[in-house]
Amino acid sequence: MTIISPSLLACDFLNIENELKVLEKEENLWLHLDIMDGHFVPNLTIGPPVIRSLRRALGPDAHFDAHLMISNAEEMHSEYIDAGANHITVHVEAVTNLQQCLREIKEAGASVGISLKPDTPLDIVKPVLDEVDLILVMSVNPGFGGQSFMESAIERVQRLRKMIDERVEAGARPVTLQIDGGINVSTIAVVSEIGVDCAVVGSALYNDRLLSDNLAELHAAMGRLEA
Ligand code: DX5
Ligand code: ZN
Repeated sequence: MTIISPSLLACDFLNIENELKVLEKEENLWLHLDIMDGHFVPNLTIGPPVIRSLRRALGPDAHFDAHLMISNAEEMHSEYIDAGANHITVHVEAVTNLQQCLREIKEAGASVGISLKPDTPLDIVKPVLDEVDLILVMSVNPGFGGQSFMESAIERVQRLRKMIDERVEAGARPVTLQIDGGINVSTIAVVSEIGVDCAVVGSALYNDRLLSDNLAELHAAMGRLEA
């Protein structure tokens, strides 16, 4: 079963309390927070103060997954954890000492993930598979919502799925496989079928239609697979 993780990037921030109420009905809700610095990616989004407000509004039980698309993740990750993120994903392309960065995030009390841009070779994950809780496969170039799903992500997911499953069979702990970019009613069925655990969805949830209808359609698209 694939979890739908709403990316707040495309939501109406002035109406966020109402938008979040709709999401509260989701089982196993992971809020995906896209943090962009105008440097690692051209776009600029939210930072720790907004995360702090969200945490205050949603209480201690909400799961906040912070996707750091920033050049200085190694220096800044603790700011995001202090503000209320339970999970931090860093981009391997932006980090110099990956092992140390992952260790520091875990020591600060958050779970940790690594994200790979569409052209980054997958071999980079092998040395850190024991250290990570999550691998995020980008199915668009990070920076903007509303882009089209890159088909090349499918083979990348399949290879990582195999790598993770083989290790679990040999006794290693499972690693969550997440995908981000261009997920909608058509692509969610594809990624669910190939074993993605968590699909981030932005513009297919937040658009001119009702959020609750969009959510229901995404669940239905996956349900048709299981039927
Ligand atoms: C892109 C972000 C995504 C984005 C997804 O850099 O990491 O989380 O918000 O948006 P959609 O679903 O519109 O591709
Ligand atoms: Zn993201």
